[in-house]
Amino acid sequence: MWHLFRADRRDIELCFGDTLTELLRTTRMEMSDRFIQHGDTSVLLHSAAVAYYSFKLSRRLKFAGQRRELLRGALLHDYFLYDWHHYNNEFGVHGFCHPATALGNARRDTEVTALEADIIAHHMFPLTPAPPRSRSGWVICMVDKVCSLYETFNRGIYPELRDYIDGCRRNAGRFAA
Ligand SMILES: [Fe+2]
Ligand SMILES: [Fe+2]
Repeated sequence: MWHLFRADRRDIELCFGDTLTELLRTTRMEMSDRFIQHGDTSVLLHSAAVAYYSFKLSRRLKFAGQRRELLRGALLHDYFLYDWHHYNNEFGVHGFCHPATALGNARRDTEVTALEADIIAHHMFPLTPAPPRSRSGWVICMVDKVCSLYETFNRGIYPELRDYIDGCRRNAGRFAA
């Protein structure tokens, strides 16, 4: 799996790393590392994995033109900022309602484009009724499900991505655990 990570190091440095570092510096994304998403994977690590593999897939499918928005949308797709195991979403059941919460938080903390909003709002389709309206939205919707399944049944995963995130956190001036 991680041979893909090594193969495109330059792209990651230029796009993925810059986008992640910027969001860590300018939003409350660091908080997402406190909350578990699946297994022992934090929301921050899950979001970074979804962004990374969506980015890879978009390049394979030859539509990486909106790469920055794709990465930002993916990194913010679960920007709900609470522990979903112990908190009732103010709008209802977490699975159905967290995309709206994540989009609201993202809009409060940063500028969100229409494409980024589509990615965040529709990533839980078909659990939520409205499908994505963009190719990027569809890619993230699918990659999110694959990553979620992988994280649920495995522990200690994405080791190189964990290290890479720590580097971005240091560059962003955030504490790296
Ligand atoms: Fe989600
Ligand atoms: Fe997710």
